[in-house]
Formats: sequence, structure tokens, C-alpha cells
Amino acid sequence: MTNLSVKLFDIKFKNPVWVASGTFGYGVEAQEIFDVSKLGAVVTKGISLKPRLGNETPRIVETPCGMLNSIGLQNPGVEKFLTEIYPKIEHLDTHFIANVFGESEEEYVEVCIALEDAPKVVAYELNVSCPNVKKGGIVFGHDPVVLGSLVESIKKRIKKPLLVKLSPNVTDVREFAKVCIESGADGLVLINTLLGMKINIRKKKPDLATKTGGLSGPAILPIAVRMIYQVYEAFGDQIPIIGVGGISTWEDALEHVMAGASAIQVGTANFFDPLAPIKVLEGIERYMKEEGIQDFSELIGVAHRSE
Ligand code: SIN
Repeated sequence: MTNLSVKLFDIKFKNPVWVASGTFGYGVEAQEIFDVSKLGAVVTKGISLKPRLGNETPRIVETPCGMLNSIGLQNPGVEKFLTEIYPKIEHLDTHFIANVFGESEEEYVEVCIALEDAPKVVAYELNVSCPNVKKGGIVFGHDPVVLGSLVESIKKRIKKPLLVKLSPNVTDVREFAKVCIESGADGLVLINTLLGMKINIRKKKPDLATKTGGLSGPAILPIAVRMIYQVYEAFGDQIPIIGVGGISTWEDALEHVMAGASAIQVGTANFFDPLAPIKVLEGIERYMKEEGIQDFSELIGVAHRSE
């Protein structure tokens, strides 16, 4: 028997394959494509206190081996999520993790508190790494003192586990991982998008209305793997890491896991292959059978032990 389940922050996930925030909506539309209950978890699009229209268009552009987005956290707000979207997903036999965004410390706290009574939402993924907004996002994630204070004040007022999605746009991600651990975070999610730009040589200006955007897709896989490896090496015995960044195939997912991720999120691949998460799940299971590995946990961080 192959055991793909993982227990993280006292929650049992049926498997380690999740879908990343902003690439899967809230899981409503995907139900027409495959059985969403097969996933270990769905991470929602960022949810804020008030509805947000997001940035001006164009806000997506393709790049070599990836894409740039500058959506600006468009979402209907937490109230509408709870009254209109949540009833469409609460029957699904998977966990939901709410990606939470605020323009101030109090807004982050209020969104989490509003979600405390929604049983399908089992944890929060703190968005302190969106590079596309002027308030919130990386404003919190790029200052260790501000980040520590945010994590600490949310932790004091919530019951559910708090994961922090870190920005890769920093000199040493371990500094930020350390602050999160010391402030009480239950898990780390690595990595969000890398700040980039594409210039349209016919228009002679940047393609995106906001000029810069977040780079995701296969192009960022080695960067994500490197950062997970570094954080696992430093703190792998203290906190679980969730890997996200450039995963399109089961082989990519296993690189994240062997670097130190206890679960992974499929992101941009959902846009070009909506069945990618299922293929990743099946591929991991096949690999485990071929290699005679019975428990998925044997693979977590194995690259550190094989040197
Ligand atoms: C966005 O909505 O701009 C992207 C969200 C993110 O990068 O966290």
C-alpha cells in the first residue's frame, strides 16, 4: 500500500498535492473538469475584507517559460466569499486554505476572524508577498519587523493554523522564515512570484499596465527549489514547508519535496493544463510504487540525506 497522506499542523491531508492561490479561483469552475475532492487541498484566490477590482489591464503577459501577472488581488471580499462562494464548495471532500490579504494589520486579522466559523477553511495562507499592490502584500513581507508583528497579532486572535507565503524578492529568505517561526507561524509557503517586466518592442513600453508583475511558471522552478532547500536546511526540524513555484509535472513536484517540502502547490500549470494537479498526483504515486517507497513522508527532504 502506498500512503500519500500527510499530517501537517495537526490536520490530515489525503495527499500532498494542492493547488496554488490565484490559479484555481475558489474551486467552483474546476468541478466541471475533474473531481476536486481528489486534491489534498485548494488554496483560494486572495481574500480581502472589502471587494477589490484589481489593477488596470493588460495585467497578464506570457514570457519565456512562464508568465507575468499583475492582477492586483481582484476578489469579491470575504462577505461575498462566505455567502455566495462557500456554499458551492462546502460539499467537497477536500480542505480549503484561505489566502488572506489586507492593507493593514487589522484588515488581515478581520478577514481571518470572519473565516473562523467556516469549517471547510482549515487554515490561512497569509499573503505578504504579492508584488502587485501598493498597500499590503510585500510591504509586510519585505520588512522582518513588520512581518513579525503581523504574524504575532494574527496568531493571538485566531484558532486555525497560520501559514505564511514568503516573497522570493529578498536577499536571504531565511531571515524572513526565522521571523515567522519566532512569531508563531505554523507553516511556511515558498515561494510567491518574482518581480519582473516585459517590454513590448513595437509599442516601445512595458506590456503590463502596472509595468512590473510577478513571474511564475517553469522559469522559476530552480529558484523555488533552491529557497526550499535553504529554508529546510536551516529550519526543517521546526516548521513544515509547502512548496510552490514552477511545478508543471510530478518530477518538478518531487524536486520540491526532496528539497524539503511536505506538500506542494500546482500553480501556473493550471492555466495551460487544467488536469496538471491530477497528473502530478498520479505521477508521484507511480514513482513511489516504482521506487518501493511506502510512505510519502520518506521523500520529504531526502536530498539533504543523500549527500
Ligand atoms: C495578484 O493578484 O496580483 C497576484 C497575487 C499574488 O501574487 O499573491
